[in-house]
Amino acid sequence: MKGKILFLIVIQFSLINAQTKLGVLKYDDFKTPEFCGTSCHTEFHQQWKQAMMSQAYTHEWDEIEYFKLAVPHAEKDEKVAEVKAGCNGCHSPIAYVVGDVPPPLPSKNSRANESVSCDVCHSIAGFSGDTPYNFNYIMKPGKTKYSSRKSGVQSPAHEIEVNPIMKTGDFCGICHNEKSPFDTWVKSTHLEWKDGPYYKEGVQCQDCHMPKAEFKTASMGNTYNDARLHLFHGAHDEGKVKGVIEIRINPDIKEVEPGEVVKFTVALFNQKTGHKFPTGSVEDRIVWLHVEAIDEKGNVYHLPVDKKGFQGEEYLIGEDVLAYQDMGIALNDPNFKGVQRDGIPIGDRIFRKPYFDPKGRMTIQQWNTASFGVDYRIGPRETKIETFTFKVPEKISPGKLKVTATLNYQLLVKPVADFLGVPSSESKIVEVNKHSTEVTILQ
Ligand code: HEC
Ligand code: HEC
Ligand code: HEC
Ligand code: HEC
Repeated sequence: MKGKILFLIVIQFSLINAQTKLGVLKYDDFKTPEFCGTSCHTEFHQQWKQAMMSQAYTHEWDEIEYFKLAVPHAEKDEKVAEVKAGCNGCHSPIAYVVGDVPPPLPSKNSRANESVSCDVCHSIAGFSGDTPYNFNYIMKPGKTKYSSRKSGVQSPAHEIEVNPIMKTGDFCGICHNEKSPFDTWVKSTHLEWKDGPYYKEGVQCQDCHMPKAEFKTASMGNTYNDARLHLFHGAHDEGKVKGVIEIRINPDIKEVEPGEVVKFTVALFNQKTGHKFPTGSVEDRIVWLHVEAIDEKGNVYHLPVDKKGFQGEEYLIGEDVLAYQDMGIALNDPNFKGVQRDGIPIGDRIFRKPYFDPKGRMTIQQWNTASFGVDYRIGPRETKIETFTFKVPEKISPGKLKVTATLNYQLLVKPVADFLGVPSSESKIVEVNKHSTEVTILQ
């Protein structure tokens, strides 16, 4: 028995080593995206250029987090040392496999800037182990490109080998699941999808992020009626985020007198995502529900959410407290007090999963995440109910009272974005959806 386990471990190790040993492959083993996209796959190239995939190394927030926080932290703390190379296992896989650690800054225009390029994905033969995560790809660049169909037209540039895994969400999981050095699942988009309804129905990641259309996949190639567009549109695409959650708000009574209590119920239905909302970089994202009433004279009343009373709920309601003190490690400020935790109105409901550092403080550093709080995100096709109890003020104007529930989204918590100098596009408020109802205030 013991011998068998040892044998399995050895196989596992050698598999990982066989493909992630740094420096075996060279940059020249991979074609540039311009090579693929200048005369043949011109349209796919333009689509990919507009997706985050092509900016995974160069995008400003990625540059700031890697060079300002992750690299200095990795150099100081043995426990997280692996991320100095590891971040780019997903963000710039070629730089990673050739052993360029850390790669030059994006401003140096090195080949690391190619990020998740055509030849990264189309050189992936499979992944090691049972679960795709932490860039466990088996990378085989060369004359043969892997794809999901053999083209009817022979390409002058390469051979094609059909790789069935490219048609499945498991392929995406190679980079869209991440385990931290503390063995916590800090990114689990693929696992969330596998647990949810879409996987059971055979709906793949590709069906929503690489939709099928009648399209030419290469300029001299065939038109297919089910060509896979390379949109990879996600949280950075407002059109993708808008309407993800449908909202309805209703009161428990239609007519109220000043001084009386009226309870509003909000139903939030996740109609669009194949995983939880938010997913991916959950440590950065914030989604919150804001409810406001306006009386006939235009006076505005903010309604705080009713507490449900479960343990850990304090992280799920807007509060004026400090967090993210562990940024002080990389910034050489061991007594760093942190920054405001949420940057949203106090009392609003937050849909998130808090990440905690080894000292139990909230963190946006996924590599320094030792545990989690309550996962209060909205699952695929899940409906969450929130209530707002409002004691109508004695001095309110009689007449119509309009009550609006708005769900907002931010890629990166604003106080963190401001503190680190991340461009405001990352902390812009995107309105996911809203709905209004009315009650009548009697004389
Ligand atoms: C080799 C690693 C890798 C593979 C394989 C991969 N991705 Fe990604 N993907 C990334 C990285 C890294 C980013 C993040 C870019 C950024 O924001 O820095 C990303 C970003 C995205 C985004 C944009 C998210 C946003 O915030 O806008 C979508 C959508 C996406 N990937 C979908 C997919 C799908 C679908 C698949 C499978 C067909 C897939 N990815 C396979 C690495 C990968
Ligand atoms: C994140 C990984 C990823 C990147 C980056 C990527 N592809 Fe793909 N590509 C795929 C997957 C997955 C499929 C197959 C999807 C399916 O059939 O479900 C595919 C399919 C294709 C196809 C065949 C489409 C069809 O419908 O027959 C072509 C051609 C192609 N890719 C070219 C490119 C080019 C050119 C680039 C760079 C501009 C690129 N790919 C970048 C993952 C990627
Ligand atoms: C039923 C459609 C659907 C399926 C299936 C689906 N997604 Fe998404 N995905 C969406 C929508 C809509 C959004 C935009 C809202 C959001 O950010 O969550 C999104 C967002 C994303 C984002 C950005 C998330 C963020 O908050 O930064 C990533 C990354 C992503 N998807 C990857 C995947 C991967 C990988 C799979 C498969 C394991 C997958 N998606 C399956 C619909 C889908
Ligand atoms: C297992 C693959 C993987 C590893 C390892 C990884 N990332 Fe990512 N990272 C991703 C994917 C996929 C996304 C996109 C998820 C999304 O859009 O929500 C992402 C998103 C991000 C973003 C958010 C950009 C934005 O606004 O959406 C930053 C910043 C980032 N990663 C930095 C890092 C740093 C720094 C490290 C190393 C400590 C790291 N990543 C390690 C896969 C990875």
